[in-house]
Amino acid sequence: MTLQLGDQAPDFTVETTEGKLNFYEYLGDGWGILFSHPKDFTPVCTTELGAVAKLKGEFDRRNTRVIGLSVDPLDNHEKWLDDIEETQGARVNFPMIADPDRSVSDLYGMIHPNANDTQTVRSVFIVGPDKKLKLTITYPASTGRNFDEILRVLDSLQLTADYSVSTPVNWNDGDDVIIPVTVSDEDAQVKFPKGFTTLKPYLRVTPQPNR
Ligand code: BEZ
Repeated sequence: MTLQLGDQAPDFTVETTEGKLNFYEYLGDGWGILFSHPKDFTPVCTTELGAVAKLKGEFDRRNTRVIGLSVDPLDNHEKWLDDIEETQGARVNFPMIADPDRSVSDLYGMIHPNANDTQTVRSVFIVGPDKKLKLTITYPASTGRNFDEILRVLDSLQLTADYSVSTPVNWNDGDDVIIPVTVSDEDAQVKFPKGFTTLKPYLRVTPQPNR
């Protein structure tokens, strides 16, 4: 069954490059990102893992723990991490799940047989502190992901979890936000003391409330 937004993120216990771990314990009370890679020793994946390692400070700042997955075994992962450090200039600083029996890949529907029946696609799952799925993205093996976009989405998810707002097209942290139609003008005056602009009754914008 396909996992959908709002579903409980399935828990699991697995072997990783940082030892055996339980997913929920690893996430603690914070946010989490689980992302899959088709295969070890492949070029696009190598660049992605180096990029995510360089962004660790950004994920920490957002109280978010990152965990990668590939269906290859642990000893391959360990050798591959050396290559990633050598070619990308960053050591992978988060656990990489070894999933040769595909237990986690199957739990999260990361294998799409019409694309490839033995390798995972490039899935991304963002899990909230309530362990519910807040975002799912699926990329094909041939296209590397944009982890700046994943940080941008995380900023939106964290903001909209705390405030009654939505974020518009191409929004970045610090930009104006949208007041949902479910908030009346009277309530908006109380919730958004910086004021708001009404472009249409259904399109009201206000400065980002936590800035
Ligand atoms: C890659 O990471 O470059 C890759 C992996 C599997 C299929 C195609 C590309």
